[in-house]
Amino acid sequence: MDFYEVVGKRRDVRAEFTGAPIADEVLHRVLSAAHAAPSVGMSQPWDFVLVRDKDTRAEFHQHVHGERAEYAATLTGERAETFERIKIDGILESTLSVVVTYDPHRGSPSVLGRHAIADAGLYSVCLAIQNLWLAATAEGLGVGWVSFYREEYLQGLLGIPQTVRPVAWLCLGPVDRLQEVPDLERHGWRSRTPLDQVVHLERYNAHTG
Ligand SMILES: Cc1cc2nc3c(=O)[nH]c(=O)nc-3n(C[C@H](O)[C@H](O)[C@H](O)COP(=O)(O)O)c2cc1C
Repeated sequence: MDFYEVVGKRRDVRAEFTGAPIADEVLHRVLSAAHAAPSVGMSQPWDFVLVRDKDTRAEFHQHVHGERAEYAATLTGERAETFERIKIDGILESTLSVVVTYDPHRGSPSVLGRHAIADAGLYSVCLAIQNLWLAATAEGLGVGWVSFYREEYLQGLLGIPQTVRPVAWLCLGPVDRLQEVPDLERHGWRSRTPLDQVVHLERYNAHTG
C-alpha cells in the first residue's frame, strides 16, 4: 500500500477482529516499526508487553467494562443512548494485546530536549504507537486502542513497576475488514472536523478558510 492509502485505511478496530494467528515475522516487522519511532534525546522510553494469555485478557476485559460503566453513569439523554451502542474494545476477540509503556527514567538524568517539556517523553511513546498502528494497517491487521482502565490496576496486572506508566493497551490481529468510517462517526458520537478549521495562519485564531 502507498503511504497515504495506509493513513486513510487505518481505523480503530473493535468488532472486526477474527482471532486468526499472526506470523512471527509479521509481528516482528510491526514491532520494529514501532521501535523505529523518533524519541526525545533518543531516549526510546517505550517497552512492549505482549499479552496472549486468555485469563489475563479476560481479567483486564472485566476491569475495562467496570470503567465503561463508570463513564456511562456520567452521561444522560441522547449521549447515554448513543454510548450504549458503541463497542469500546476487542480485547477478547483480537489475536493478542500489546501494552505499550513509558519509562521516564530511560536515558536520565539528562534527557536531551526534555528539560523544559517533561511530556516530550510521553509524546515519543505515542509516536511509537502510531508507527505500530500504521505498520499493522500496511500488513492488513487491525489495532484497537483501549484506554478505559486505571494505570495502577494495569501495573498490578502485568507487574509493571510503579515508576513506569502504561500508555496504551492495544488489541492487535487480523480483521475481516477495516471500516471506511470511524466507529464513533458511524454511531453519531462525533465526526472528524474539516482540515481548515484546525489550520491557522500565523496566529492561533486566524483560520485559512
Ligand atoms: C489515546 C487514545 C485512546 C483511545 N481509547 C479508546 C478506547 O478506550 N476505546 C475505543 O473504542 N477507542 C479508543 N480510541 C480510538 C478512537 O475512538 C478513534 O481513534 C477515533 O474515534 C477515530 O477513529 P479512527 O481511529 O478509526 O480513525 C482511542 C484513541 C486514542 C488516540
